[in-house]
Amino acid sequence: MDGQSNHQAVNLRSNVLGPPLFQRLHRARHIAVFTGAGISAESGIPTFRERFTGLWAKTDPQEVATPEAFRADPQRVWDWHVHLAATVRRAAPNAGHRAIARLQDAVERITVITQNIDDLHHAAGSRDVLELHGNLFRLAPFVDEEALFAEGRNPLICHLCGGYALRDDCDPYAGREDLEGLRLEAGPVPRCPACGALLRPDIVWFGEPLDPHVLGAAFEAADACDALICVGSSLEVEPAASIPYRAIRRGAVVIEINPEPTALSQQADAAIRGSAAEVLPALFQEVWG
Ligand code: OAD
Repeated sequence: MDGQSNHQAVNLRSNVLGPPLFQRLHRARHIAVFTGAGISAESGIPTFRERFTGLWAKTDPQEVATPEAFRADPQRVWDWHVHLAATVRRAAPNAGHRAIARLQDAVERITVITQNIDDLHHAAGSRDVLELHGNLFRLAPFVDEEALFAEGRNPLICHLCGGYALRDDCDPYAGREDLEGLRLEAGPVPRCPACGALLRPDIVWFGEPLDPHVLGAAFEAADACDALICVGSSLEVEPAASIPYRAIRRGAVVIEINPEPTALSQQADAAIRGSAAEVLPALFQEVWG
């Protein structure tokens, strides 16, 4: 790493980066932007771990965001996500999401690596988006591996939803359009029309693995990028949290944007204290104006 780390409050009218860091950012041909819930806070979506307002300050994640919770009470978990989806549907991309999308016009390659499930990077126009934790608006079959192993069954894979068929008479004529018509909305937990499997939001709950293709692509981007900008994450959830550190190890410039310090702050080339919607447009204007 070159340049002095900058851990002071940002005055966006001055050159907070210092000439060496500014030059390295300006010359970067591939930038990875790693985002967490903080980037969507100014769109009206609560973060997870903030002390009084975070989702996990109000609800124990073990009760609504684990496969065990869904197995025990699918309707409760479904209803909690329906409620969250109502907030997310009302939200629109903010100036931070839009600034990241605009960066595609100034830099050869931008990879957005997000932990967010809210789809706001796509809505803002970002094209290369890796959704590490899935997407709240897709449904997936609930694969109850524990029950399958306990019963010693060797079930078929459902041709329609791709999960393990709950029924041996999985209906090969059930239509894809029936499945595609199902949404995360109030009502009973839907089932796959062919095999009867319960459907769930296609997101990663605690204790579940990430999609290896998505995680692999994120690691590749972190290893290959010239700069990584980490925005609005507490970096408390692995394996996502390791991604900015990979970029540091590979010699990329790493800038953090967060109103609060995190474990990354001391290792980043610059830690800018401020909100995503204020800092990102100002920073990008300063570097790529
Ligand atoms: P957290 O809630 O853990 O952290 C949010 C971070 O955003 C904190 O560090 C805040 O200081 C910061 N922040 C708040 N407002 C901000 C703003 N306006 N601009 C910039 N930063 C701001 O959220 P994540 O780190 O994203 O999993 O949490 C990681 C994962 O834990 C999430 O993806 C989620 C959760 O369980 C799933 O949804 C599957």
